[in-house]
Amino acid sequence: MVQKEAGGANDLLDCASSAGFVYSARSSHCSFCSVRKDEHGVLAADNVLDLIGDTPLLRLNQRIGKGIIPSVYAKLEYLNPGGSVKDRIALKMIEAAERSGDLRDGGTIVEPTSGNTGVGLAIASALKGYKCVFVLPDKMSQEKISLLKAYGAEVVVTPTNVERDSPESYYSVADALTRQIPGAFQPNQYFNANNPLSHYETTGPEIWRQTGGKIDYFVAGVGTGGTISGVGRYLKERNPNIKIVGVDAQGSLYTGSRARPYKVEGVGEDFIPATVDLELIDQWETVNDRDSFLLCRRIAREEGVLVGGSGGLAVAGALRLASRLTEHAVIVVLVPDSGRSYLSKIYNDEWMRDQGFLGLFEGSIRIGELLQRSGVDRTMITVETGELVRKAIDRLHAYGISQMPVLYAVDDGEASESDDYNAANRILGVVEERGLLERIFRDPTAIDAPVGKVMDAPLPVIDAGGDISSLVQVFHGSASGTVVVDDGRILGIITRSDLLDYMVHQHLLKEEY
Ligand SMILES: Cc1ncc(COP(=O)(O)O)c(C=O)c1O
Repeated sequence: MVQKEAGGANDLLDCASSAGFVYSARSSHCSFCSVRKDEHGVLAADNVLDLIGDTPLLRLNQRIGKGIIPSVYAKLEYLNPGGSVKDRIALKMIEAAERSGDLRDGGTIVEPTSGNTGVGLAIASALKGYKCVFVLPDKMSQEKISLLKAYGAEVVVTPTNVERDSPESYYSVADALTRQIPGAFQPNQYFNANNPLSHYETTGPEIWRQTGGKIDYFVAGVGTGGTISGVGRYLKERNPNIKIVGVDAQGSLYTGSRARPYKVEGVGEDFIPATVDLELIDQWETVNDRDSFLLCRRIAREEGVLVGGSGGLAVAGALRLASRLTEHAVIVVLVPDSGRSYLSKIYNDEWMRDQGFLGLFEGSIRIGELLQRSGVDRTMITVETGELVRKAIDRLHAYGISQMPVLYAVDDGEASESDDYNAANRILGVVEERGLLERIFRDPTAIDAPVGKVMDAPLPVIDAGGDISSLVQVFHGSASGTVVVDDGRILGIITRSDLLDYMVHQHLLKEEY
């Protein structure tokens, strides 16, 4: 977008750079980015690599950060040509290798990567005429493989379930290919100093300029640590009071004592890479998968910005930090990539539900509450094994219910209130209207038999504190109902039709966000 300066002559123009710096029509290029005026006087980039960087800031205080005192700005790195922050490091690592002689004309770039760094390397290689071979584990989606191939890269797929140092792992295969292919170069973002350097030279200065030096906090998710270390070093050199805040995925080793699996991609590690400078990080926030993904969905719906999981994680960390601050401050949080790469996960309701990140029902309720809402008071309506079938049928009718649990008998003399509390352990079976009818039809004398002789296998037992989504699993099988218990006490039975009734009246499948 090129605009005339308000009220001014035609010679002062806003550069296409999103940082909004003024371009003078009398010179031939913008002083802050690589966009130039061509021989026709048209302001345009010469190639797509010139469009890397100079990403804009978006203020989040109107909607997602409404009501918080500090100003929170998101740096939208997904607006880079390859859709992520990694375009910056890919170009820098390639240019450095060209200068050092590690990469020569017609050379081949080999990298064990499945994601954004691969795209950045593939774009730069397309323009510079290098071949690219990416080694990916076979758990990666066809979508990611197709994306890399679209830029002309070759993809080698290796098995996922092998140790990092196995010869079959994608790291080992990438190392072997680098040794075997003449003129091959492996950038290795985890060990390459040009990774943080690219952020020291570009991302850091952009943020300093965009905030007019007023930034107080820089917040970023930490993967290789290149972003936070490069930006952090630059900003602290300009003003040592600026605080650098790392956001870690719950389950990663940066803030956890033991690495555990998690779903947010691109951030957190199970080892400490050479590219991170932990001394620069003043404080950490740890955010779990659920909070990261639910916030992604809110950001899309409220801000109209589709961010990846690590963006949701970083913004969650920034908002948490902001909500603790009682004075005004300027917070910049980096959003590394776009949600487009995660449509089948974060933005897919079924996947989110399968992972347990999304409740099945609006404002999902507990099982005990559903029992209360279902109206009929079925508290502790049970029958003991020794009671007669005739009596059991009378009780079913008296309470207007179709089934009840059968408990083993407690000796009369010993029966006490505490029996209620242990009732769940006394369940031996169930009697059900339909089953009883069939039984008596076949053998009319069954009406005077003890219940224990005619009962069916017990219904599944479920805890009243569980989320009602877990009922769906129970009713997947043949059970027509389930006994709800709380601390050993039987609260009642929930049937399939209770759940269906609730679904119909609660506008099933609305989300929490
Ligand atoms: C999607 C995504 N977010 C965040 C990061 C973290 O950035 P850095 O590696 O600079 O710490 C990465 C890095 O791989 C990434 O791919």
